[in-house]
Amino acid sequence: MKTLVYIRNLLADRYVASITPSSKSAVERICRKINFKAKNLIIEYGPGLGVFTSRFLEYMSPESRLIAIERNPDFHRLLRREIDDPRLLVHLGCAGSVLDVLHGVNGEGADYIVSGIPFSLLSGQMRAGIISNTFSALKNGGSFLAYQTFYQPDRHLKSLLKEHFPVVRTELVLPCIPPLSIIEAKKE
Ligand SMILES: C[S@@+](CC[C@H](N)C(=O)[O-])C[C@H]1O[C@@H](n2cnc3c(N)ncnc32)[C@H](O)[C@@H]1O
Repeated sequence: MKTLVYIRNLLADRYVASITPSSKSAVERICRKINFKAKNLIIEYGPGLGVFTSRFLEYMSPESRLIAIERNPDFHRLLRREIDDPRLLVHLGCAGSVLDVLHGVNGEGADYIVSGIPFSLLSGQMRAGIISNTFSALKNGGSFLAYQTFYQPDRHLKSLLKEHFPVVRTELVLPCIPPLSIIEAKKE
């Protein structure tokens, strides 16, 4: 059912960039990188139908907050309809507007920003703007966690992250088809 919604939206919006939600193993691998025992502000770029969103909410403490930024109006509407949780704010817009969204909420930085957006489809200017704003939106010690298919060239994301973040690591998630790479960039 979710796959049908993805395919329908992908046909009308190439930035959806997938025919199906991410796998459970991808979600758990990202979750392992988040300290859910702490009070966190987590921002998610490109939640789609919320496979990461709902798992984060399961693990998050009651005082933590999650902001999901989705540019596709259909996904935004469905996500708001499907997940009713006072800790979640679903924002319709581009990840590049993260600083405005954050400002509207509390002005403090995020502990984690998790991204599933297709950087390879974005213009160079847009990529650069999103990464620069992402760096500014994170607290010191915060992490940016991006998952994408493993064959993406470094110039679409990793090289750009190295211009801002002192620590950038990549790992492969093999049980997924196609395999994913997770890029973790830490602001220290
Ligand atoms: C590959 S799908 C991932 C969906 C979901 N996170 C998952 O893993 O199953 C990419 C998602 O990013 C959204 N997206 C693409 N570009 C975006 C942008 N610039 N800002 C926010 N969301 C974006 C798409 O609409 C889509 O929901």
